[in-house]
Amino acid sequence: MYGPQATKGAKGVQKVTVPELRARKASIGSGGRSDGRSESPSEKIAMVTAYDYTMARLADEAGVDMVLVGDSLGMVVQGLSTTIPVTLDEMAYHCRAVARALGRAHLTGDLPFMSYQVSPAQAVESAGKLMKEGACESIKLEGGEEIAEHVHRIVRVGIPVVGHVGLTPQSVHAFGGFKVQGKGDGADKIMADALAIEQAGAFAVVLEAIPPDLAAEITAALSVPTIGIGAGPDCDGQVLVCSDLLGLSRGHQPKFAKRFAELGNLAVDAFASYVSEVRGGTFPTASHSYKANGAKAARPATNGTVTDELDAPLALDLWH
Ligand code: KIV
Repeated sequence: MYGPQATKGAKGVQKVTVPELRARKASIGSGGRSDGRSESPSEKIAMVTAYDYTMARLADEAGVDMVLVGDSLGMVVQGLSTTIPVTLDEMAYHCRAVARALGRAHLTGDLPFMSYQVSPAQAVESAGKLMKEGACESIKLEGGEEIAEHVHRIVRVGIPVVGHVGLTPQSVHAFGGFKVQGKGDGADKIMADALAIEQAGAFAVVLEAIPPDLAAEITAALSVPTIGIGAGPDCDGQVLVCSDLLGLSRGHQPKFAKRFAELGNLAVDAFASYVSEVRGGTFPTASHSYKANGAKAARPATNGTVTDELDAPLALDLWH
């Protein structure tokens, strides 16, 4: 079982839906209502990536609106230098794990390289697989005008789509590296791409690594929310990679990746303390050990297969 039913603590929590996310656009930057009174602005959409149950559960508990199982898992989880080798089966596996954790947040799964570019039919099949096997609630794919027909066909079978324009990492080799897109003359192409994807039926569009003024123009031009990453403050929402946001990643980081904590350093300290306590014999103590069995003669009779701890329902007592 996956989904909210499986999530402890999610009792009574309503799932964030596609129509709700779509409606978040309604009043941001609208300049007020026709009667001249200013409308209260919609809350911006907070999206974050996650690739496993533990991380997704924490993000959900914190109140993020959308969790993206990005193909960035190639870098974050698999240690690759690009997203290109990530497969659809790998995406489905990680989406399934994340889905089990989400009580409230909406789950979007990324279609990886070459799982949708070949034809609209291939795109529909791949999107369907992420919905069925990955328990996703929408899919995301990269590209603009050239992929609009593919988006249209996916949307027509009832699968919500998030677009992704600007720096599209699956095209890293065509770009000659992870570089800001849409500078100078390139701006018109990104605008045309975003409009084409909206026209094709996407309910939101990610804008990655483009100048903030271009992102603001696209946000004003689209009737669906824009979700920025390295696209300035004027988008309708923001997305960050969880390991960047938490300060878990090492090495070079893009300028836009604000570290809201330094959990990587805390983790290294914790691992080092563990190593030192194991080597010094100070871990485990009695408080981390089960009840002693006692002398052989005093032991209660068992059938030889069940211990006190394992007698608990589903053996969950082992964890307490
Ligand atoms: O794969 C990913 O994580 C993404 C986000 C950075 C938008 O596409």
